[in-house]
Amino acid sequence: MSTSERAISALAAWEPEGGGGTNVHAGDVGWATRNEDFEPRIWENDSGEIAAVGIGSGDEDITLSVAPDHRQDHVLAARIRSDLASVKVVDTPDGTALREALLADGRRLGDDPWQAFYRPTTSEDLDLLDDAVAPLAGADDVAARVAVQRAGFEGSTFTVERWERAAASSAYDGRFDLLLRTPTGAPAAVATGWMSRPGACGLLEPVATDPEHRGHGYGRRVVLATCRALARAGASGVRVVTPARNEGGVRLYLSSGFQTVTQWRFLVK
Ligand SMILES: CC(C)(COP(=O)(O)OP(=O)(O)OC[C@H]1O[C@@H](n2cnc3c(N)ncnc32)[C@H](O)[C@@H]1OP(=O)(O)O)[C@@H](O)C(=O)NCCC(=O)NCCS
Repeated sequence: MSTSERAISALAAWEPEGGGGTNVHAGDVGWATRNEDFEPRIWENDSGEIAAVGIGSGDEDITLSVAPDHRQDHVLAARIRSDLASVKVVDTPDGTALREALLADGRRLGDDPWQAFYRPTTSEDLDLLDDAVAPLAGADDVAARVAVQRAGFEGSTFTVERWERAAASSAYDGRFDLLLRTPTGAPAAVATGWMSRPGACGLLEPVATDPEHRGHGYGRRVVLATCRALARAGASGVRVVTPARNEGGVRLYLSSGFQTVTQWRFLVK
């Protein structure tokens, strides 16, 4: 089994049933798989089981999740701290020995807080449908999904090949990769949802509306449709994160029934 697939199954097992959740969701690994050179970093315990997973880009940044039974493991924390000595920005879960070790190492809190949101599944999610939003059906939809992503995120390097790599990940499920078209058929908004396992919390990553179609409620509709698709498949709720300064993202999630769970800061050198 590849390192990515091992990480996905470890993260799926760690995902709690309620909101909150670990820093890295199985879906984050699936989404990161779009990049050709991506491989998560893993740390194993003495039994050879994965005790921590990190995703990031080289020495720039890394986001970590720690297995629930290793959150207070100071030996593991010291090992990871030393392995990450050259990494500039580290995102670790609160309340872990690892976060304490990194702070004790002289790292400081970064300037830009991130905000985490959670929306529990409701009974309404099980029957409300939106005809304008549907899973990708064929090459035209994939091309449209890629185009909306590229228009929505400045500097996006997304391509059909990258979509294909993410879609080949075991974390991917096409029922949650949704495209909204306007009444004239123009592709306007996209959201990809991820579910680690039924009964656990799902993830939204990413969400975007083409700038030409913003301000018409399409972002909210595609978010709600993705939450509903996750709910119908058995997710207990959905979480999503965005930089707190991303006013559009924050407003979108609050207006889609999400509540703020926490704000937190990365640890920087
Ligand atoms: C965030 C984004 C998806 C919003 O798309 P949209 O289709 O314009 O959003 P909607 O029209 O559905 O608006 C939903 C709510 O958010 C509010 N909103 C949307 N963009 C906003 C902005 N830039 N500033 C303030 N509020 C904003 C709307 O007023 C609306 O609020 P209301 O329901 O209280 O009236 C879009 O701006 C985008 O693609 N941004 C870049 C990618 C991104 O940041 N994605 C989200 C984080 S991963």
